Amino acid sequence: MTTLIINIKQLIQVREANILKVSGEEMKTLPLIENAYLLIENDTIVDFGKMEDCYSTKAETIIDASGKIVMPTWCDSHTHVVYAGNRVQEFVDRINGLSYEDIANRGGGILNSAKTLQNTTEDDLYQQSLQRINQLIKLGTGALEIKSGYGLTLEAELKMLRVIKRLKKEQNIKIKATFLGAHAVPKEFKDNKSGYLDHIIKDMLPKIESEDLADYIDIFCEKGYFDLEDTKRIMEAGKKYGLKSKIHVNQFNSFGGVKLAVEYNAVSVDHLEELSPEDVIALQNSNTMPVALPSCSYFLSIPYTPAKQLLEAGLPIALATDYNPGSTPSGNMNFVVSTACIKMKLTPEEAINAATLNGAFAMEISNQYGSITKGKKANLIITKPIENYNYLPYAFGENCIEKILINGKLVL
Ligand code: NIG
Ligand code: FE
Repeated sequence: MTTLIINIKQLIQVREANILKVSGEEMKTLPLIENAYLLIENDTIVDFGKMEDCYSTKAETIIDASGKIVMPTWCDSHTHVVYAGNRVQEFVDRINGLSYEDIANRGGGILNSAKTLQNTTEDDLYQQSLQRINQLIKLGTGALEIKSGYGLTLEAELKMLRVIKRLKKEQNIKIKATFLGAHAVPKEFKDNKSGYLDHIIKDMLPKIESEDLADYIDIFCEKGYFDLEDTKRIMEAGKKYGLKSKIHVNQFNSFGGVKLAVEYNAVSVDHLEELSPEDVIALQNSNTMPVALPSCSYFLSIPYTPAKQLLEAGLPIALATDYNPGSTPSGNMNFVVSTACIKMKLTPEEAINAATLNGAFAMEISNQYGSITKGKKANLIITKPIENYNYLPYAFGENCIEKILINGKLVL
């Protein structure tokens, strides 16, 4: 099957196949072709260029993109989209003065979501998650990472991971699975955190390996949750099972977690609302992608990741949603990109690079996703007619997306 998109006003994020991420100054540039065409064969981008060089007219489907922008779909490298129920009441409690920490300390927060999930059947959990994913796709997301971590028992963590595995198998979009058993210490292990880590390492990991349920391992490295010693144990155990790390770190405090994650060659370090000069130094000369989650900062009213500081140090940055019921009940990458521009002062070029190619890098799929490149998957956003790509982050809250192609097929 061939699809030809013609008269594209701006074809953006056009890259050579060897560019797998962009860092520092490079992020200021968003390569594009004005008045372009793009040719898709089955699920793959096979050709593109200036309209005047477009000779192929035999495509089965022709899409006229006059006045519109064509770009790669968003790559959301950090989500918890598989969850049960919601935490609307905690949202109201926070408005009325309680902090995120207060709520967690009285048994709410992650433990609240875990209780709901434990009482939800696998099929119900699948259906709830699928509904969210279908919404995300319509908002332009074409690849995403999903974490476990709202189970916190062997049975419930496996339930989450099996749902993710089923989503991978039955849904068209690219999904990576991350095991986040160490998201919070469950009540049964309240005074025995180390016992819970033993349980993760001795009981959960072997089962996860035997069913091939995870691509990565994660831990919430934070005061009141898990410390550096715990983080080291989890990354070490992950390594034994061939799982690289993607770590929740520096959301509220900076105490050496970034450096430790880098020592373990983590694929990404995520959150980084708090950032010390030592963290920046640790990231330099590493292959670890710093990931910022501006919707989480927005929803919790906590600081935004100092992205400019990372870029000035020559580092890359990726943007993701953190879609979860507690700190970010939104999976809208368009909002993430706008918020990164408005609050973190990223330029539209930097934000779009961070939400496409660098997001793909943070899932180790940037050889196939995240840019307009011959041979990459035809996962594309076609916008409504707009002036130029700056309009996307500018018009925050407006849905500028008209069509979506996933693996070469129109899904919107
Ligand atoms: O990434 N910070 C840790 N985990 C999630 C939030 C968890 C929750 O509140 O349910 C996050 O923000
Ligand atoms: Fe998260």
